[in-house]
Amino acid sequence: MSQSNEPLKIAVFASGSGSNFQALAEAIKREDIHASIELVVCDKPSAYVLERANQLNIATYVFKPKEYASREHYEQEIVNKLLADGIDLIVLAGYMRIITNVLVEPFYGRMINIHPALLPSFPGLDGVGQALDYGAKLTGATVHFVDGGTDTGPIIAQQVVEIREDDTKETLAHRIQQVEHILLPKVVRMISEGKVTLSGRKVRVAQ
Ligand code: GRF
Repeated sequence: MSQSNEPLKIAVFASGSGSNFQALAEAIKREDIHASIELVVCDKPSAYVLERANQLNIATYVFKPKEYASREHYEQEIVNKLLADGIDLIVLAGYMRIITNVLVEPFYGRMINIHPALLPSFPGLDGVGQALDYGAKLTGATVHFVDGGTDTGPIIAQQVVEIREDDTKETLAHRIQQVEHILLPKVVRMISEGKVTLSGRKVRVAQ
């Protein structure tokens, strides 16, 4: 993707706590990933991710979905902003809204999502609870490109987390998040180095 000298310009979309946003922001600083988070897009004015963004001096774009006639309307406004800002990569990190083609089309291959399960198992809401209730022995985290479906896009990277007999949703979610906080920055680093290529459903990662 970005093989120029310009840092990869990222917009993070989040609806909640934003721990993945924070992990990415810290990794960019610490590991010197050639990238910068330009914007946090958030659909919930009370989300903690906004506080984190303010503390890190990162711009925010907050919108209230109910104020728009449709998803397509607010997404078009967001797309206009992202294009004006020259955003290279969208990172969905706990963004709890269905997205439409208005967003997917201009950013296909340049938009990734992190999901708390080993896709294609347990897509959609509550991937952690789904794996636990199913009685799976292994679950994990997946980073994938975003297509029009729910967690169906081409997979870039996955990491396994073992499910313990005494796990609750909270303990399992905690261990998955620890993995996510390493996996997501790792993928962004690979993308920023131009190592990730997409061909059909196959994602190739150069060593
Ligand atoms: C993460 O577990 C991610 O996999 C899922 O939503 C959660 C967001 O957590 N998509 P946070 O807001 O980054 O703390």
